[in-house]
Amino acid sequence: MTTAERISLTLNPAPLDVPDLAQPLGAAQQFLARIPRSLEAAAPAPESECGDSACAGGWVEAEGGVRRCPRCAAQSRTRRLADQYARAGVEGTLYQVSWGEVHLEHPSWRLARALGRNIRDVVREGINVAMVGEKGRGKTQAGVLLAKDAIDAEYSALVVDWADWVDDVQSDYTRRVKTQAEHVATLTTPDLLVLDDVGAAATSAGDLERKLFTRVIGQRYNHRRATVVTANLSRSELQDAMGERAFDRIEHACQWIVFNGPSYRAEVERRRVSATLERLQREAGL
Ligand SMILES: Nc1ncnc2c1ncn2[C@@H]1O[C@H](COP(=O)(O)OP(=O)(O)OP(=O)(O)O)[C@@H](O)[C@H]1O
Ligand SMILES: [Mg+2]
Ligand SMILES: [Zn+2]
Repeated sequence: MTTAERISLTLNPAPLDVPDLAQPLGAAQQFLARIPRSLEAAAPAPESECGDSACAGGWVEAEGGVRRCPRCAAQSRTRRLADQYARAGVEGTLYQVSWGEVHLEHPSWRLARALGRNIRDVVREGINVAMVGEKGRGKTQAGVLLAKDAIDAEYSALVVDWADWVDDVQSDYTRRVKTQAEHVATLTTPDLLVLDDVGAAATSAGDLERKLFTRVIGQRYNHRRATVVTANLSRSELQDAMGERAFDRIEHACQWIVFNGPSYRAEVERRRVSATLERLQREAGL
């Protein structure tokens, strides 16, 4: 019996007879025993989970039986992606944003968009991306969007705040939850790694930072894995923060993007609080 037949059997049960619990489980019941509770509850009296009236517990009638409901399938893909994004460190407000919602007029953003559209080539060919420039121009946002594109294309991706990660490695020196090699390995395995705000730890941990950089980049380079770095630095400052060996492994197969457009943060943040601030000022009689 195929899975679809078993399910069709569960959804269209034969005239109700009282189950004999002492009997071994039938095929359909065994199947039910293995499906999640949420679906199990829906199975005896099928109800639409996706809002489509033709959908019964995630299945719709089709010629010759039932098939997976496309709306439920899309919803579950969205949930799965959300899980993957969260595991990739893509969370919070930057995660909510998609390409359709950002300004793409500035050349830096047009270039980022083109990389996103061609994320398969970026990952397959191990193309690095260095996004440098002033605060609030969208470097982190662009890195997050590229990671989402990679995940959507079924690659593994990880977004890491560089300073936080260096801190973690440093404080783990005494706690020993993970060895340094294990910390490094988490960054070397993903198909696409976004190292956000590189060099931000430079002042307090310059030498360790460069050492870690050399290990992470060295191992990624050996596998020709794509790495995106963002930095609020100039090119030469970035080179200094990364150390020459790491920089040399990145720079030759690298797309540079200088984010020197408008400060989107200024726009986003002003818009976020403007109504409340105006109300407060009115209340203050200003
Ligand atoms: N092209 C864009 N269109 C609309 N909003 C944008 C765009 N780029 C960035 N933003 C928004 O601007 C804010 C700041 O962006 P982001 O944090 O990526 O800047 P950044 O360049 O990484 O800054 P920093 O150097 O301080 O880390 C975020 O809220 C982001 O969603
Ligand atoms: Mg940033
Ligand atoms: Zn459905």
